[in-house]
Amino acid sequence: MVAFTLPRNSKVTEGKTWPKPTGATNVTQYRIYRWDPEDDANPRVDTYTVDRDHCGPMVLDALLWIKNNIDPTLTFRRSCREGICGSCSMNIDGSNTLACTKAMDSIGDTIKIYPLPHMPVVKDLVPDLTNFYAQHAATKPWLQTVSPTPEKEWRQSHTDRAKLDGLYECILCACCSTSCPSYWWNSDKFMGPAALLQAQRWLVDSRDERTGERLDELEDPFRLYRCHTIMNCAKVCPKDLNPAKAIAEIKSAMVERRG
Ligand code: SF4
Ligand code: SF4
Ligand code: FES
Repeated sequence: MVAFTLPRNSKVTEGKTWPKPTGATNVTQYRIYRWDPEDDANPRVDTYTVDRDHCGPMVLDALLWIKNNIDPTLTFRRSCREGICGSCSMNIDGSNTLACTKAMDSIGDTIKIYPLPHMPVVKDLVPDLTNFYAQHAATKPWLQTVSPTPEKEWRQSHTDRAKLDGLYECILCACCSTSCPSYWWNSDKFMGPAALLQAQRWLVDSRDERTGERLDELEDPFRLYRCHTIMNCAKVCPKDLNPAKAIAEIKSAMVERRG
């Protein structure tokens, strides 16, 4: 039988149970992943009790409540608190989503929170998105043209503009890529659903004049073709986008141009 040992710091231990807020009767329990690169200890799961009568309804409200009232060291990202910036993505109750748009009432009495899966952790709920952003940049997410620049603007018909719907709304939260098994195993080479959705957004832009080169850059056994249509990406996207469909369309474009 093959025996293997996990790296020491991959073992998650039971952490601290913080005292309940005095007098609180309407409460929700949180079990939250904690890891601090500076204390040389294993990751742990801390337990907190949130006083629902003095806290907003969303999971992000609870995290802020915990940070302000119980434990100022709890670390997470957030900015807009309305599902626009993509900063507060994390694994809540077993699924990747945005803390600011996830209502506590849609979960049970105990809410488990981990960082986005299979990413290096910077601290607590903050993943290192360096590779994810580099993959986005590799799609060259801007208009590329060779024609002389028009005096006023690059024009686009209403019909062509509508082709960008379902693509341009991506907020780069990384919920999709970090829910994709192919991305877990090959994130160094497979671009992942978020970057490929962006690639498709520029491939179908009627004003772009580098479609052939864009396709050339994706024609690779890993970059595009590691998608096996598992569909986790479409299931978790908090903006209801469908990266799997965008990827299938890129694959079709590859086939069409060969024919
Ligand atoms: S459909 Fe493709 S990109 Fe989406 S989760 Fe599955 S393998 Fe990953
Ligand atoms: S496609 Fe959806 S899940 Fe993926 S990064 Fe964009 S908004 Fe987030
Ligand atoms: S805080 Fe901006 S998307 Fe949640």
